[in-house]
Order: sequence, then structure tokens, then C-alpha cells
Amino acid sequence: MRKFWDNAATESASESSLTLGGGAGGSESGRSRLPGQLPVPVSLQIGSVTIAPATVLAPMAGVTDTVFRRFIRNLGGCGLIMTEFTSADGVLRAKDKKAKRYLHFYEDEHPISAQLFGSDPQVMADAARIVEDLGFDLVDLNLGCPAKKVVKCNGGSGLLRDLPRIRRIFEAVRAAVKIPFTVKFRIGWNDSEVVCVELAKMAEDCGLCAVALHARTREQGYSGTARWEWIAAIKDAVSIPVIGNGDIRSPEDACAVVARTGCDGVMIGRMAPSNPWIFRQIEQYNAWIKHEDGASGHPTPPPYTQPSEMDRYEMIRTYFRMLIEEELPDAPGKMKQFASWFTHGVPGGAALRKAIYDAKTAPEILGQVENFFEQRLALSAEVVP
Ligand SMILES: Cc1cc2nc3c(=O)[nH]c(=O)nc-3n(C[C@H](O)[C@H](O)[C@H](O)COP(=O)(O)O)c2cc1C
Repeated sequence: MRKFWDNAATESASESSLTLGGGAGGSESGRSRLPGQLPVPVSLQIGSVTIAPATVLAPMAGVTDTVFRRFIRNLGGCGLIMTEFTSADGVLRAKDKKAKRYLHFYEDEHPISAQLFGSDPQVMADAARIVEDLGFDLVDLNLGCPAKKVVKCNGGSGLLRDLPRIRRIFEAVRAAVKIPFTVKFRIGWNDSEVVCVELAKMAEDCGLCAVALHARTREQGYSGTARWEWIAAIKDAVSIPVIGNGDIRSPEDACAVVARTGCDGVMIGRMAPSNPWIFRQIEQYNAWIKHEDGASGHPTPPPYTQPSEMDRYEMIRTYFRMLIEEELPDAPGKMKQFASWFTHGVPGGAALRKAIYDAKTAPEILGQVENFFEQRLALSAEVVP
């Protein structure tokens, strides 16, 4: 099944992004690494909410449900988690089970932001009020989704062509809630309709507390490379916090985007399911950079730890158990998807992917994972002298 984030040029981009440790956008696009790196800030203030560290798990439809969010939180290093985008219309329809499920979260997820999409200012305001009443710490407006079915109803990136309407949405939502209100958007519809700087200024004018830029146009989809220079342009134009997003695939990339743009925080999407340790690795890398800055002549420690095969086993098992416990209706599909991302780069991963693909139920999939790793671990015990 093709998903909205697939496009011709994307497939190679997302494939490379889903390889553990797979070279950062930086190296592939010729971006310089050291010395052009700065630590990711230790915290980020969004209105009344402190995000520490200044790292955000990007909202991802079909991925960032409560299980994945808690899974990432538990691994450490991630300052803010966000729901997948949720239809404001759906939120207002009491019977919309999907919207209800998307907005379900647990106490240990704070601070958490709910992302909404829609095009009617009043509906957006009413939905934001519900989000606030549910106890979310922040509410975010999606102006980035390129999916045709969303754009067709003027939602997501479709709104990028209608700034007056965006202003009305900003004003209506701002007036409706007390929690910090943020927006995530793309550069513009295409290269001849770049609106991101104007939009960020409008957000600041209307009292929004932060902006996040996925530095691609709608027309780009997920192809090509993210153009971080637009993150820098926004940072120059506004005083509210700016969160940089797009092609951050390693701690080195996170520190490079901070150095290149001056952004106040970094947001990570596709790399999180294939390397859920990335947030922790950024923390370790940050500490290393700071140490390197102040030290001379000492032996250089490894900048961050890489997961062992056992770590990977524990990780996938933990996540799958959490999915089963949560009784999500689409758990087998999610397990298959996650396994396909997560096992790239694992020795024997192709065989495991096939076994998982053939399994029908969630417990069966978990069983396949357990068998696979038990065999791998037995094998590695045999070769140890
Ligand atoms: C599977 C998938 C689902 C996504 N769903 C959303 C979404 O619900 N809301 C949103 O604002 N962006 C969504 N995005 C975009 C990401 O939040 C992020 O902006 C994009 O992937 C670029 O960041 P990355 O290079 O770190 O992946 C999605 C991306 C992917 C790959």
C-alpha cells in the first residue's frame, strides 16, 4: 500500500533514513560536520511549558500513538512528544472513535502536544478547547500534511495558499485556549510560493508560542533534502522559539542544524522508529561536544553509544508487548511496519521481516521475534571462545 509520504524521489530518501546509523542528511547532502556543530539547547520554553531537553518527537500519522510515544519517552532524551495529526471535525464528532483514540494519552506522557488539522476557524477553536480540557499541555496546528485527501479539504499544507484563513484560525484558536498554541508548517506550496517567513511572523503576531518548520515545500513531498536555510531565515525573523525539522538522522545532524540555523530545538521524525535511541544519543553527543570544547589533550571518548544486538532485541520485544497490552485494533499492522523499519541493518533482518510478514496475529509476531533473537543469541554464544 502506498502511503502519502511515499513519492518517487522519496523512496530512496526514506530508505536511507531508515537505516540505523545511516548517514545523516548532512553527509549525503555535503553539509559540513565538525566544526559546524553546536549542542542542542538543554531546554526550550514554549509559553508556560518547559521542554527539556529541546528535542521533539515529530507527529507521525500511524506511528506516534500512545504506545510509541511512551516507548520513546521511556528510552530518555526526548523533551516533547506529539500526537499524530487529528481532524478537528472528528474531535467535535462525539462518535468519532479514531479521533478519540488519537487523543488518548497517559499521565507519564507530559509534556505532550495535540496536533489538529482543519480549515474552519470556529471548528479548530472548539476542537482546541476540547484538547485543553483533556489535559494536553500544548495544542499544535498542522500546516504541513501533503496528503491529497487532507489538502483537498484545505487542511494541512493546502492552507499554505490561504494566509488570510490561517490568520483567522490563529486568532480563533488563540482566543479559545490558555495552553500554548504552536504551528508546524512547510516552506510553502512550491518554490514560487514560499511563505514560511511571513507565516512565522504572522504566528508571532497572533500570539502563538513557537513554530516548527519541516524545511521542504509541499511539492517536494519527502524528496530531495531539507533546506535548513529556511529555518535560519525564520529564526532571524521572529523572537518566539523556532524548532528545526527535516532530515535530522543523527546526533551530528541535530548539532549541525542548531549551528547552521540557531534554532531553539530540534524535531525528529522518520529516524525515531528505526533508531529510537536517537534522542538519548543526542544527549550523550551534546555532553561530549561541551566536554570537547573545554578540554584539551584528553583521550576522546566515543561520542555516543550504539545499541548491541541484545539491546535491539529488548527494544523490539518491549515495544511489541506494549502494543499488545494496549489492545490497539491495528497492532499486527503496526508491528509489521515497525519491524520493517527497525530490522534494517540487523544481521538476519530480512529473514525476520519475512517471518513477521507471514504471521497473522500480534502474539504470533511477538513469537517470531522471540524465536529469531533466541537463535541469534545462541549462535553468538557458540562463537564466543
Ligand atoms: C509516516 C509519517 C507520518 C507523518 N505524519 C505527520 C503528522 O501527522 N503531522 C505532521 O505535522 N507531520 C507528519 N509527518 C511529517 C513529520 O512530522 C516530519 O515533519 C517529516 O517526516 C520530516 O522530518 P524527518 O526528516 O525527521 O522525518 C509524517 C511523516 C511520516 C514519515
